[in-house]
Amino acid sequence: MRIAVVGSGYVGLVAAACLAEIGHDVICVDSDEKKVAALKAGEPTMHEEFLPELLARSQRLSFTSSLKDAVDASAIVFIAVGTPSCETGEADVSGLEMVCREIGPQINDYKVIVTKSTVPVGTNGWIRRVLVRYGAPQGSFDVASNPEFLREGTSVTDFLFPDLIVIGAENEKCAKAMRRVYGPLTSGSYARSRQAIPAPDGARIPAPLLVTSPRSAEIIKHASNTFLAMKISFVNAVANVCELAGADIQEVVQGIGSDQRIGSRFLNPGIGYGGSCFPKDLSAFNWVARDLGYDFQLLDEITRINEEQRYLFVRKVRNALWTLKNKRIAVLGLAFKGGTDDTRESPAIAIIHMLLKEKCQIIAYDPAAMERAKPEFQNEPIEFAEDSYAAAQDVDALLVLTDWEEFGALDFKRLKKAMKHPIIVDGRNLFSRETMANLGFSYFSVGRQETTPTRTIAPTEEHEEQESNFDEPDSDIRAA
Ligand code: UDX
Repeated sequence: MRIAVVGSGYVGLVAAACLAEIGHDVICVDSDEKKVAALKAGEPTMHEEFLPELLARSQRLSFTSSLKDAVDASAIVFIAVGTPSCETGEADVSGLEMVCREIGPQINDYKVIVTKSTVPVGTNGWIRRVLVRYGAPQGSFDVASNPEFLREGTSVTDFLFPDLIVIGAENEKCAKAMRRVYGPLTSGSYARSRQAIPAPDGARIPAPLLVTSPRSAEIIKHASNTFLAMKISFVNAVANVCELAGADIQEVVQGIGSDQRIGSRFLNPGIGYGGSCFPKDLSAFNWVARDLGYDFQLLDEITRINEEQRYLFVRKVRNALWTLKNKRIAVLGLAFKGGTDDTRESPAIAIIHMLLKEKCQIIAYDPAAMERAKPEFQNEPIEFAEDSYAAAQDVDALLVLTDWEEFGALDFKRLKKAMKHPIIVDGRNLFSRETMANLGFSYFSVGRQETTPTRTIAPTEEHEEQESNFDEPDSDIRAA
């Protein structure tokens, strides 16, 4: 099928590359000429597994800055522009409206306009009205809602092997066109093809597809993200109770997660969720509910617990060091989660700002996000190191703020030698308490009791446990 994707951000670019990968002719449009030039030259504009391969091998994907040309040439137009938060928490859909105003006059033969952006319920109705207002003949198009559930870092496999494809369609003609778009995934033919990207463990093949009303589809997206955020805030609150009660959150999670009604995924405690979706979607959904006349207080509480988690972490650092002023602190991790260079709404960045306010000296390292993080700290006294060991040189303590896999394979003997004091405060519960104590660290984590060194390590002693420092990667956050 001939498809246009408007917007080449995380969602748009991945959707465009994957739609081309499954056999469609795709034109990806962005008003940013520089970005278009980079993409035309085959340079991925973000760090995402498998994306470089898809961009390099696709013969069916092209880029342009002309929305008119892309819409003219396409039967299906996906809109994947940003819907950031306004100051009120409401989603700012003005970018979306602008795109619709430009698309309206281009609609001549039947087209399906598809919303991929996360939008408040009722948006599809507005898109229809704006398209007509700007020249699209009634009956010449349909509007569909097709929310995405892509996680950064795994978005290519999330797209190609989804748990579910949701289509909010106004009528059968529109639903049929959308079923054709996803045909290679719902028939399993893509997964069987020789060149397919490897399916992740437990992938649902063929992918299930659910057709709903556009309004239900819009709510599915907001409700899904809210529910996941709720799981994280819930487990963080239970972790805080565990610390006070002398219990261990990892054991508690193992217990409650075994109940299939609860499930163990998205129950990793830590410094709270961040990223471009959860915080924004929670406030947008809250705003929508209020606008419709329902006071959804649970959503306020999810956000409150999430923000409090950062303060509790800084308090933990203070408890480990007594005072913070002038302390030299290594920070491992700047991205909002492992596997991405994205620092938007990253709890790591928020915690560093708090520590800088307390006059700490920060030396930060992240495997992918340092360049993106630098503008967040203009004129701030922060250093960036080339690796974890350089960051740890002469520090009073080391903090782990992002769940990067490489942090699980650190050479702790080398790290300990570099540090002034062997104190680790782990905001992601990456390591086992016993291993850390045996390696000679004072170790603080989330929802577990602190441990102090159980033995002193001679500098020549080898550590066989080195490979097993990382706790079992039993769920999303550690697999990141
Ligand atoms: C999320 C949704 O998962 C995805 O379906 C939607 O399309 C976009 O938003 P993403 O923002 O990429 O994806 O990241 P995700 O893996 O969901 O993690 C979000 C945040 O929650 C991260 O900061 C992560 O570290 C944190 N998290 C996640 C936890 O603190 N604990 C967990 O158990 C899981």
